[in-house]
Amino acid sequence: MNIVILAAGQGKRMKSALPKVLQTLAGKPLLQHVLNTALSLQEKQTKAGPIVVVGHGAADVKTFLANASKVDVSFSKVTTALQAEQKGTGHALLQALPKLDAQEPTLVLYGDVPLTSKKTLSKLAKLADGVRGQDSAVALLTQNLKDPTGYGRIVRDADGSVKEIVEEKDASLAQKAIQEINTGIMVLPTNALKKWLKALRASNAQGEYYLTDVIAMAVKDGVPIRTTQADDEFEIIGVNSRSQLATLERVHQLTIANQLMDAGVSLADPARMDVRGTLECGTDVFIDVGCVFEGCVSLAAGTKIGPYCIIRNSVIGNEVAIHAFSHIDGAKVGNQSVIGPYARLRPGADLSNDVHIGNFVEVKNSKIAANSKANHLAYVGDSIVGSRVNIGAGTITCNYDGVNKHQTIIEDDVFIGSDTQLVAPVRVGRGATLGAGTTLTKDAPPNQLTISRAKQISLKWQRPVKQDKKPVVKKVAKKTAVSKKAAPKKTAKGKK
Ligand code: UD1
Ligand code: CA
Repeated sequence: MNIVILAAGQGKRMKSALPKVLQTLAGKPLLQHVLNTALSLQEKQTKAGPIVVVGHGAADVKTFLANASKVDVSFSKVTTALQAEQKGTGHALLQALPKLDAQEPTLVLYGDVPLTSKKTLSKLAKLADGVRGQDSAVALLTQNLKDPTGYGRIVRDADGSVKEIVEEKDASLAQKAIQEINTGIMVLPTNALKKWLKALRASNAQGEYYLTDVIAMAVKDGVPIRTTQADDEFEIIGVNSRSQLATLERVHQLTIANQLMDAGVSLADPARMDVRGTLECGTDVFIDVGCVFEGCVSLAAGTKIGPYCIIRNSVIGNEVAIHAFSHIDGAKVGNQSVIGPYARLRPGADLSNDVHIGNFVEVKNSKIAANSKANHLAYVGDSIVGSRVNIGAGTITCNYDGVNKHQTIIEDDVFIGSDTQLVAPVRVGRGATLGAGTTLTKDAPPNQLTISRAKQISLKWQRPVKQDKKPVVKKVAKKTAVSKKAAPKKTAKGKK
């Protein structure tokens, strides 16, 4: 099947510098949603991939496609056709014509209608099916809307067969009352389509070449017109404004939330979580309110995520507790670990099992082995930390000299006292203890107490004492307007 995605329109109502089809829904450009579905429909075919008709912001759209194919090779099948001037949907499809395989039907999608399901499109394609190589039916995806304003209307004969599509601006009052609308998504026999597109005229209210005019041509040619509808209305909703985008975002997020709950995940409130990418969950995962998941995140069985956590591109093990307000990006967290509240795991944080990272602790590009703890106010960067290590409050690995990053190695069973600075590169030997407040600039030998601390002394000392300010205030008061305010007060008091 040929797939053409119309995406040359401007999207004026978005009032954005970004082409409309690159606005994001659930963290992904609208066009990417459409292409993912299109590619999944074509997955068994090796031939040409989907064709995107670009126009407004064509360079941006092409850049997006080039970047997307670096991440996902299937996108390298996507090609573009340029519609330099936007003269209507029929004119847009005409630009893709030379790239179409005449032996295959053509599915038309819109770059700004992101949530049409694969199931619906497969159903539509089946409806248009003929024997391979033969032109068959036209299949239209229609929808009955309470308020059909703005859409093209499906005009049917007395016997119910589709006669034509009339655009809102060209419709009679009677036609405007029709509630069955054209979603714009259709499958057409390609050979006939070529003929029909070339016959289009722009003699209508908008002076555009309407793709919808091919329906009347198909009827005239005796090609059957079949229609079907999507299970859910949101599948056919296009994005024209930011408010529609936000509405669709909530609808989509609720769909994701329901899928997660069906798979055995508990959500404190399905309306208060956002998945911008893919979230894989084991059974009995619990997610509290306000969490945002970005990129690819997996949470293994029994893991609990506290409120208002942000987790991006991370792998979280079994029965992990991530407490409120933690920020986790590009990290691995082992089973039964305890993170947060207010913890920050940055890219390359690789925690083994039963690791505890507490409040205001930042870990970056560091491996921390099992049963180790950094529970309060610490920075662990570019480090290798062994097992059963305790990193005291306020400990900092000084990993950066302004130009280079250096490594800190902390071996098994080390105890690091509070407020220690480890000036990298430096190694703390197995079983070593660092006294609180140590600034470690040389390796600490194993099993010894290493301490760098100024010797404690006590001196006789008179702490400066503040002058009594009361007389000063009085003096100032007499000379300023404050005294005038004070005066009537006194009088008032006197009267009482
Ligand atoms: C179109 C349909 C209408 C349908 C509605 C559904 C026509 C004539 N009308 O109307 O029946 O109810 O969609 O939303 O087809 N585009 C181009 N180049 C152009 C014009 C449009 O690529 O020159 C693309 C747009 O980027 C968009 C899609 O085609 O993705 C639809 O364009 P839009 O202007 O929204 O069509 P409507 O007038 O709303
Ligand atoms: Ca539209």
